[in-house]
Amino acid sequence: MDDWIQHRSAIWDDSSLLVIDQTLLPHRTELVRLTGVEDYCNAIRTMIVRGAPLIGVVAAYGAAALAAICSSVEEFEAGLPRLLETRPTAVNLRSALEVQLSVARSSPTFLQDALLESAHQFYLSEIQSSKAIGAAGGQWIEARFGGSNPIQFMTHCNAGRLATVEYGTATAPIYWLHENGLPVHVWVSETRPRNQGASLTAWELAQAGIPHTVFVDNAAGHIMQSSPIDVVLVGADRIARNGDTANKIGTYLKALAAREHEIPFLVAAPGSTFDLRAGTGREIPIEERNPEEVSTIVGHCGGDLVRVDLVPRGTSAHNPGFDITPSHLIHAFVTERGILEPAQITSLATSSAP
Ligand code: MRU
Repeated sequence: MDDWIQHRSAIWDDSSLLVIDQTLLPHRTELVRLTGVEDYCNAIRTMIVRGAPLIGVVAAYGAAALAAICSSVEEFEAGLPRLLETRPTAVNLRSALEVQLSVARSSPTFLQDALLESAHQFYLSEIQSSKAIGAAGGQWIEARFGGSNPIQFMTHCNAGRLATVEYGTATAPIYWLHENGLPVHVWVSETRPRNQGASLTAWELAQAGIPHTVFVDNAAGHIMQSSPIDVVLVGADRIARNGDTANKIGTYLKALAAREHEIPFLVAAPGSTFDLRAGTGREIPIEERNPEEVSTIVGHCGGDLVRVDLVPRGTSAHNPGFDITPSHLIHAFVTERGILEPAQITSLATSSAP
Protein backbone atom coordinates (compact mmCIF):
# COMPACT_ATOMS: atom_id res chain seq x y z
CA MET A 1 0.00 0.00 0.00
CA ASP A 2 1.29 3.49 -0.84
CA ASP A 3 2.99 5.42 1.96
CA TRP A 4 0.87 8.59 1.69
CA ILE A 5 -2.25 6.67 2.77
CA GLN A 6 -0.77 6.55 6.29
CA HIS A 7 -1.04 10.31 6.71
CA ARG A 8 -3.04 11.97 3.90
CA SER A 9 -6.51 11.56 2.42
CA ALA A 10 -5.63 12.48 -1.18
CA ILE A 11 -2.66 13.27 -3.41
CA TRP A 12 -2.21 14.74 -6.88
CA ASP A 13 -0.82 12.02 -9.13
CA ASP A 14 -0.40 11.78 -12.88
CA SER A 15 -2.92 14.49 -13.88
CA SER A 16 -5.60 13.29 -11.47
CA LEU A 17 -6.47 13.37 -7.80
CA LEU A 18 -6.03 10.03 -6.06
CA VAL A 19 -8.32 9.71 -3.03
CA ILE A 20 -9.07 7.06 -0.43
CA ASP A 21 -12.60 5.71 -0.94
CA GLN A 22 -14.06 6.54 2.48
CA THR A 23 -17.26 4.58 1.86
CA LEU A 24 -15.26 1.34 2.17
CA LEU A 25 -13.26 2.12 5.31
CA PRO A 26 -12.35 0.69 7.75
CA HIS A 27 -12.59 -2.75 6.20
CA ARG A 28 -11.20 -2.10 2.72
CA THR A 29 -8.61 0.50 1.73
CA GLU A 30 -9.16 1.26 -1.94
CA LEU A 31 -8.19 4.27 -4.01
CA VAL A 32 -10.28 6.15 -6.55
CA ARG A 33 -8.74 8.25 -9.32
CA LEU A 34 -10.61 11.49 -10.09
CA THR A 35 -9.95 12.86 -13.56
CA GLY A 36 -12.98 14.38 -15.29
CA VAL A 37 -15.29 16.92 -13.64
CA GLU A 38 -18.03 14.29 -13.26
CA ASP A 39 -15.61 12.09 -11.24
CA TYR A 40 -15.13 14.99 -8.81
CA CYS A 41 -18.87 15.70 -8.54
CA ASN A 42 -19.62 12.04 -7.98
CA ALA A 43 -16.90 11.64 -5.31
CA ILE A 44 -18.34 14.50 -3.25
CA ARG A 45 -22.00 13.53 -3.82
CA THR A 46 -21.54 9.86 -2.89
CA MET A 47 -19.18 10.66 0.01
CA ILE A 48 -16.18 8.80 -1.41
CA VAL A 49 -14.64 11.99 -0.02
CA ARG A 50 -16.30 13.92 2.80
CA GLY A 51 -15.47 16.35 5.60
CA ALA A 52 -15.68 20.09 5.00
CA PRO A 53 -12.03 20.98 4.22
CA LEU A 54 -11.50 17.94 1.98
CA ILE A 55 -14.73 18.68 0.10
CA GLY A 56 -13.29 22.17 -0.57
CA VAL A 57 -9.98 20.80 -1.81
CA VAL A 58 -11.66 18.25 -4.08
CA ALA A 59 -13.97 20.95 -5.44
CA ALA A 60 -10.93 23.15 -6.23
CA TYR A 61 -9.42 20.33 -8.31
CA GLY A 62 -12.86 19.64 -9.79
CA ALA A 63 -12.98 23.24 -10.99
CA ALA A 64 -9.65 22.73 -12.77
CA ALA A 65 -11.12 19.61 -14.41
CA LEU A 66 -14.16 21.65 -15.45
CA ALA A 67 -11.91 24.27 -17.01
CA ALA A 68 -10.38 21.54 -19.18
CA ILE A 69 -13.68 21.20 -21.06
CA CYS A 70 -14.52 24.91 -21.24
CA SER A 71 -13.45 27.33 -23.92
CA SER A 72 -14.26 30.54 -22.03
CA VAL A 73 -14.54 31.91 -18.49
CA GLU A 74 -18.29 32.35 -19.10
CA GLU A 75 -18.68 28.68 -19.96
CA PHE A 76 -16.62 27.78 -16.88
CA GLU A 77 -18.80 29.93 -14.62
CA ALA A 78 -21.96 28.38 -16.06
CA GLY A 79 -20.61 24.90 -15.23
CA LEU A 80 -19.71 25.61 -11.58
CA PRO A 81 -23.17 24.73 -10.17
CA ARG A 82 -22.44 21.11 -11.15
CA LEU A 83 -19.84 21.10 -8.36
CA LEU A 84 -21.55 23.57 -6.04
CA GLU A 85 -24.77 21.54 -5.83
CA THR A 86 -23.12 18.27 -4.80
CA ARG A 87 -23.54 18.94 -1.04
CA PRO A 88 -25.11 21.95 0.68
CA THR A 89 -23.79 22.43 4.23
CA ALA A 90 -19.96 22.61 4.15
CA VAL A 91 -19.15 26.19 3.12
CA ASN A 92 -15.64 25.13 2.11
CA LEU A 93 -17.15 23.93 -1.17
CA ARG A 94 -18.49 27.39 -1.99
CA SER A 95 -15.31 29.11 -0.73
CA ALA A 96 -13.12 26.94 -2.96
CA LEU A 97 -15.25 27.51 -6.05
CA GLU A 98 -15.35 31.27 -5.46
CA VAL A 99 -11.56 31.35 -5.23
CA GLN A 100 -11.36 29.35 -8.46
CA LEU A 101 -13.81 31.67 -10.21
CA SER A 102 -11.78 34.73 -9.26
CA VAL A 103 -8.60 33.00 -10.46
CA ALA A 104 -10.30 32.17 -13.77
CA ARG A 105 -11.49 35.76 -14.20
CA SER A 106 -8.13 37.31 -13.48
CA SER A 107 -5.82 34.76 -15.09
CA PRO A 108 -3.77 35.94 -18.04
CA THR A 109 -2.50 32.36 -18.58
CA PHE A 110 -4.33 29.35 -19.94
CA LEU A 111 -7.37 28.86 -17.70
CA GLN A 112 -6.78 25.27 -16.65
CA ASP A 113 -3.10 25.72 -15.70
CA ALA A 114 -3.93 28.65 -13.42
CA LEU A 115 -6.79 26.75 -11.79
CA LEU A 116 -4.66 23.68 -11.24
CA GLU A 117 -1.95 25.78 -9.62
CA SER A 118 -4.57 27.40 -7.41
CA ALA A 119 -5.96 23.95 -6.43
CA HIS A 120 -2.45 22.86 -5.41
CA GLN A 121 -2.20 26.02 -3.27
CA PHE A 122 -5.56 25.25 -1.71
CA TYR A 123 -4.40 21.70 -0.91
CA LEU A 124 -1.18 22.97 0.71
CA SER A 125 -2.89 25.76 2.61
CA GLU A 126 -5.37 23.29 4.18
CA ILE A 127 -2.38 21.23 5.39
CA GLN A 128 -0.76 24.37 6.84
CA SER A 129 -4.02 25.32 8.54
CA SER A 130 -4.39 21.86 10.09
CA LYS A 131 -0.83 22.00 11.42
CA ALA A 132 -1.39 25.47 12.91
CA ILE A 133 -4.70 24.32 14.46
CA GLY A 134 -2.82 21.38 15.96
CA ALA A 135 -0.18 23.59 17.58
CA ALA A 136 -2.64 26.24 18.82
CA GLY A 137 -5.10 23.72 20.24
CA GLY A 138 -2.40 21.40 21.54
CA GLN A 139 -0.68 24.19 23.50
CA TRP A 140 -3.98 25.47 24.91
CA ILE A 141 -4.97 21.97 26.05
CA GLU A 142 -1.51 21.08 27.37
CA ALA A 143 -1.47 24.22 29.53
CA ARG A 144 -4.77 23.22 31.16
CA PHE A 145 -4.81 19.43 31.23
CA GLY A 146 -1.25 18.23 30.53
CA GLY A 147 0.30 15.87 33.09
CA SER A 148 1.11 12.27 33.62
CA ASN A 149 -2.48 11.03 33.22
CA PRO A 150 -3.86 10.76 29.69
CA ILE A 151 -5.81 13.85 28.60
CA GLN A 152 -9.36 12.58 28.00
CA PHE A 153 -10.99 13.83 24.78
CA MET A 154 -14.44 13.26 23.41
CA THR A 155 -15.04 13.78 19.70
CA HIS A 156 -17.88 13.29 17.24
CA CYS A 157 -17.92 12.28 13.56
CA ASN A 158 -14.59 12.45 11.74
CA ALA A 159 -12.74 15.73 11.77
CA GLY A 160 -9.42 14.03 11.17
CA ARG A 161 -7.05 13.86 8.24
CA LEU A 162 -9.70 11.92 6.30
CA ALA A 163 -11.90 15.02 6.53
CA THR A 164 -9.06 17.37 5.58
CA VAL A 165 -5.83 16.49 3.78
CA GLU A 166 -3.49 15.85 6.71
CA TYR A 167 -3.71 16.08 10.56
CA GLY A 168 -7.38 17.12 10.58
CA THR A 169 -9.06 19.85 12.56
CA ALA A 170 -10.45 18.34 15.79
CA THR A 171 -7.82 15.61 15.71
CA ALA A 172 -4.92 17.96 14.95
CA PRO A 173 -4.38 19.06 18.60
CA ILE A 174 -4.64 15.39 19.62
CA TYR A 175 -1.94 14.43 17.08
CA TRP A 176 0.16 17.40 18.22
CA LEU A 177 -0.03 16.32 21.89
CA HIS A 178 0.69 12.70 20.98
CA GLU A 179 3.70 13.71 18.84
CA ASN A 180 4.95 15.83 21.74
CA GLY A 181 4.87 12.87 24.10
CA LEU A 182 1.78 13.72 26.13
CA PRO A 183 -0.52 10.80 26.93
CA VAL A 184 -3.99 11.13 25.37
CA HIS A 185 -7.12 9.02 25.15
CA VAL A 186 -10.01 9.71 22.78
CA TRP A 187 -13.65 8.79 23.32
CA VAL A 188 -15.03 8.40 19.80
CA SER A 189 -18.77 8.76 19.23
CA GLU A 190 -19.95 6.24 16.60
CA THR A 191 -21.97 8.95 14.74
CA ARG A 192 -25.05 7.25 13.40
CA PRO A 193 -26.33 7.01 10.75
CA ARG A 194 -23.13 6.82 8.66
CA ASN A 195 -20.83 5.98 11.56
CA GLN A 196 -17.94 8.27 10.60
CA GLY A 197 -16.66 8.05 14.20
CA ALA A 198 -16.70 4.28 14.44
CA SER A 199 -15.47 3.70 10.88
CA LEU A 200 -13.16 6.60 10.11
CA THR A 201 -11.94 8.27 13.31
CA ALA A 202 -11.27 4.92 14.98
CA TRP A 203 -9.37 3.78 11.84
CA GLU A 204 -7.28 6.94 11.79
CA LEU A 205 -6.45 6.90 15.49
CA ALA A 206 -5.54 3.21 15.33
CA GLN A 207 -3.14 3.95 12.48
CA ALA A 208 -1.54 6.73 14.53
CA GLY A 209 -1.25 4.50 17.60
CA ILE A 210 -3.50 6.77 19.70
CA PRO A 211 -5.51 5.05 22.44
CA HIS A 212 -9.26 5.41 21.84
CA THR A 213 -12.62 3.92 22.73
CA VAL A 214 -15.74 3.92 20.54
CA PHE A 215 -19.14 4.40 22.18
CA VAL A 216 -22.72 4.60 20.92
CA ASP A 217 -23.98 8.16 20.48
CA ASN A 218 -26.55 7.75 23.25
CA ALA A 219 -23.80 7.09 25.82
CA ALA A 220 -22.20 10.56 25.53
CA GLY A 221 -24.10 12.09 28.48
CA HIS A 222 -23.47 9.09 30.69
CA ILE A 223 -19.75 9.10 29.86
CA MET A 224 -19.43 12.81 30.68
CA GLN A 225 -21.27 12.16 33.97
CA SER A 226 -19.26 9.12 34.99
CA SER A 227 -15.77 9.47 33.44
CA PRO A 228 -13.31 12.36 33.62
CA ILE A 229 -13.62 13.99 30.16
CA ASP A 230 -11.29 17.01 29.95
CA VAL A 231 -12.34 18.47 26.58
CA VAL A 232 -14.97 17.89 23.91
CA LEU A 233 -13.35 18.71 20.57
CA VAL A 234 -15.28 18.67 17.27
CA GLY A 235 -14.89 20.03 13.74
CA ALA A 236 -17.34 22.17 11.77
CA ASP A 237 -18.95 22.37 8.36
CA ARG A 238 -19.94 26.04 8.53
CA ILE A 239 -19.59 28.67 11.23
CA ALA A 240 -21.79 31.76 11.10
CA ARG A 241 -20.63 35.26 12.03
CA ASN A 242 -22.09 34.98 15.54
CA GLY A 243 -20.35 31.64 16.16
CA ASP A 244 -23.33 29.33 15.62
CA THR A 245 -21.79 26.17 14.22
CA ALA A 246 -23.09 23.52 11.84
CA ASN A 247 -21.48 20.15 12.36
CA LYS A 248 -22.51 16.50 12.09
CA ILE A 249 -25.91 15.66 13.55
CA GLY A 250 -25.52 14.93 17.25
CA THR A 251 -22.93 17.65 17.92
CA TYR A 252 -25.52 19.93 19.55
CA LEU A 253 -26.49 17.27 22.12
CA LYS A 254 -22.84 16.83 23.06
CA ALA A 255 -22.45 20.59 23.52
CA LEU A 256 -25.51 20.66 25.81
CA ALA A 257 -24.18 17.79 27.89
CA ALA A 258 -20.70 19.37 28.03
CA ARG A 259 -22.21 22.63 29.35
CA GLU A 260 -24.09 20.72 32.06
CA HIS A 261 -20.83 19.05 33.14
CA GLU A 262 -18.68 22.20 32.80
CA ILE A 263 -16.44 20.55 30.20
CA PRO A 264 -14.91 22.96 27.64
CA PHE A 265 -16.52 22.45 24.23
CA LEU A 266 -14.05 23.42 21.48
CA VAL A 267 -14.68 23.71 17.74
CA ALA A 268 -11.59 23.35 15.53
CA ALA A 269 -11.82 24.77 12.01
CA PRO A 270 -9.77 26.54 9.34
CA GLY A 271 -10.68 29.95 7.89
CA SER A 272 -12.31 28.23 4.91
CA THR A 273 -15.09 26.93 7.23
CA PHE A 274 -16.18 30.38 8.49
CA ASP A 275 -19.08 31.87 6.56
CA LEU A 276 -19.00 35.56 7.38
CA ARG A 277 -22.03 36.12 5.12
CA ALA A 278 -24.24 34.03 7.41
CA GLY A 279 -25.23 36.11 10.43
CA THR A 280 -26.51 33.19 12.50
CA GLY A 281 -27.00 29.44 12.29
CA ARG A 282 -30.53 29.98 10.93
CA GLU A 283 -28.93 30.95 7.60
CA ILE A 284 -26.99 27.70 7.29
CA PRO A 285 -28.59 25.09 4.98
CA ILE A 286 -28.89 21.69 6.63
CA GLU A 287 -28.45 18.72 4.33
CA GLU A 288 -31.43 16.36 4.28
CA ARG A 289 -30.11 12.90 3.51
CA ASN A 290 -31.66 9.68 2.26
CA PRO A 291 -33.89 8.13 4.99
CA GLU A 292 -32.47 4.75 3.98
CA GLU A 293 -29.33 5.66 5.99
CA VAL A 294 -31.53 5.59 9.12
CA SER A 295 -33.74 2.62 8.30
CA THR A 296 -30.79 0.39 7.36
CA ILE A 297 -27.20 -0.07 8.42
CA VAL A 298 -24.12 -1.02 6.44
CA GLY A 299 -21.62 -3.51 7.84
CA HIS A 300 -18.88 -5.85 6.77
CA CYS A 301 -19.59 -9.53 6.30
CA GLY A 302 -17.22 -12.11 4.86
CA GLY A 303 -15.26 -9.58 2.79
CA ASP A 304 -18.33 -7.75 1.48
CA LEU A 305 -20.12 -4.62 2.59
CA VAL A 306 -23.76 -5.48 3.24
CA ARG A 307 -26.77 -3.29 4.04
CA VAL A 308 -29.32 -4.74 6.48
CA ASP A 309 -32.79 -3.49 7.46
CA LEU A 310 -33.32 -2.00 10.93
CA VAL A 311 -36.93 -0.76 11.06
CA PRO A 312 -40.26 -2.32 10.11
CA ARG A 313 -40.99 -2.11 6.39
CA GLY A 314 -42.99 1.04 5.60
CA THR A 315 -41.84 3.02 8.68
CA SER A 316 -40.83 6.54 7.75
CA ALA A 317 -37.43 7.92 8.74
CA HIS A 318 -35.99 11.43 9.01
CA ASN A 319 -32.30 12.07 8.32
CA PRO A 320 -30.91 15.58 8.84
CA GLY A 321 -27.16 15.40 8.24
CA PHE A 322 -26.11 18.29 10.48
CA ASP A 323 -27.27 20.36 13.43
CA ILE A 324 -26.49 23.83 14.73
CA THR A 325 -24.70 24.30 18.02
CA PRO A 326 -25.48 27.82 19.29
CA SER A 327 -22.39 29.89 19.94
CA HIS A 328 -23.14 30.34 23.67
CA LEU A 329 -22.40 26.62 24.15
CA ILE A 330 -18.99 26.93 22.46
CA HIS A 331 -16.06 27.69 24.75
CA ALA A 332 -13.72 28.66 21.90
CA PHE A 333 -12.75 28.07 18.26
CA VAL A 334 -9.35 26.58 17.49
CA THR A 335 -8.19 28.14 14.22
CA GLU A 336 -4.94 28.56 12.30
CA ARG A 337 -4.87 32.11 13.76
CA GLY A 338 -5.05 30.80 17.32
CA ILE A 339 -7.83 30.40 19.86
CA LEU A 340 -10.82 32.66 19.18
CA GLU A 341 -13.88 33.34 21.26
CA PRO A 342 -17.17 33.59 19.34
CA ALA A 343 -17.08 37.42 19.59
CA GLN A 344 -13.70 37.46 17.82
CA ILE A 345 -14.91 35.72 14.65
CA THR A 346 -15.39 38.94 12.75
CA SER A 347 -11.60 39.51 13.06
CA LEU A 348 -11.30 36.77 10.41
CA ALA A 349 -12.70 39.22 7.88
CA THR A 350 -9.18 40.58 7.53
CA SER A 351 -7.76 37.09 6.85
CA SER A 352 -8.18 34.75 3.87
CA ALA A 353 -11.58 33.63 5.17
CA PRO A 354 -14.39 34.11 2.61
O1 MRU B 1 -21.19 14.31 6.29
P1 MRU B 1 -19.71 14.47 6.51
O2 MRU B 1 -19.03 13.19 6.88
O3 MRU B 1 -19.03 15.19 5.37
O4 MRU B 1 -19.63 15.42 7.78
C1 MRU B 1 -18.38 15.76 8.30
C2 MRU B 1 -18.46 16.52 9.55
O5 MRU B 1 -19.51 16.88 10.03
C3 MRU B 1 -17.15 16.89 10.18
O6 MRU B 1 -17.25 16.90 11.57
C4 MRU B 1 -16.79 18.29 9.68
O7 MRU B 1 -16.80 18.33 8.28
C5 MRU B 1 -15.51 18.74 10.17
S1 MRU B 1 -14.26 18.09 9.16
C6 MRU B 1 -12.74 18.63 9.57
